[in-house]
Amino acid sequence: MAAQDPTTSTTTTGRRPFFCGNWKLFGTLAESTTLATEVRNGVATLRDVDVAVAPSFTAIHAVAKRLEDGPVAVAAQDCFWEDKGAFTGEVAPGQLADAGCRYVIVGHSERRQLMGELDAAVNLKARAALRAGLQPIVCVGETLAERDAGETLGRVQAQLDAALAGMAPADVARCLIAYEPVWAIGTGRNATPAQAEEVHRFIRARVAAQFPGEAAALRILYGGSVKPDNIRALMAEDDVDGGLVGGASLTAESFVRIVKEGSRPW
Ligand code: PGA
Repeated sequence: MAAQDPTTSTTTTGRRPFFCGNWKLFGTLAESTTLATEVRNGVATLRDVDVAVAPSFTAIHAVAKRLEDGPVAVAAQDCFWEDKGAFTGEVAPGQLADAGCRYVIVGHSERRQLMGELDAAVNLKARAALRAGLQPIVCVGETLAERDAGETLGRVQAQLDAALAGMAPADVARCLIAYEPVWAIGTGRNATPAQAEEVHRFIRARVAAQFPGEAAALRILYGGSVKPDNIRALMAEDDVDGGLVGGASLTAESFVRIVKEGSRPW
């Protein structure tokens, strides 16, 4: 996000900063709608930044109602790849759009690791989301073992290529990518700005090789122990365009500070 126009947080690249709070498996209806209200109020005066929150499925509709016509959009944390049918327990992207979602996170590492979600499933989910009019936030990222073995870029490339397979340029234009090193999620140990930038730049170059018209505008978020006191240094890197925030999005106070710190003009 470097090289900012001093009057706005949009860079010369035209990429608006984007911050999404990932609430994971937290929040009753009352807690979720209260948090949503506080986030909305906290970011109400900000310009040139996109903000979203991702509640649990059960709270999506109530939160979307609460945030209607305001600046904060709603994301889901996952979706299924079929539009309808006998798939007990699954939720279709069209149902999420109907409930008020604009975005859906796909391929989060917790789903890959704990639920055995494969690259091919992430691709099906992202494409189903696009069909339903949602914008997918596609997560990629290496484990600590992969980083230590020097396999970071190879792993990210494989996840990215698989996720975008079969997409048209117009589809890629509606995607966001989140680089979330698994070793940084929920650990308090964020990637350094240089570590993040190396992978973000790689992702943009990889997308450019396949979709030359879309890469410059693609927003690539960083996720993994984002906090109010580390977001600014991360956002100072050229290819870091925002954050996917877990733990620090569970109070409005810290999430709003992240949005402010990450989007205010340099
Ligand atoms: P964290 O989670 O901010 O708690 O590390 C990020 C994420 O999982 O998206």
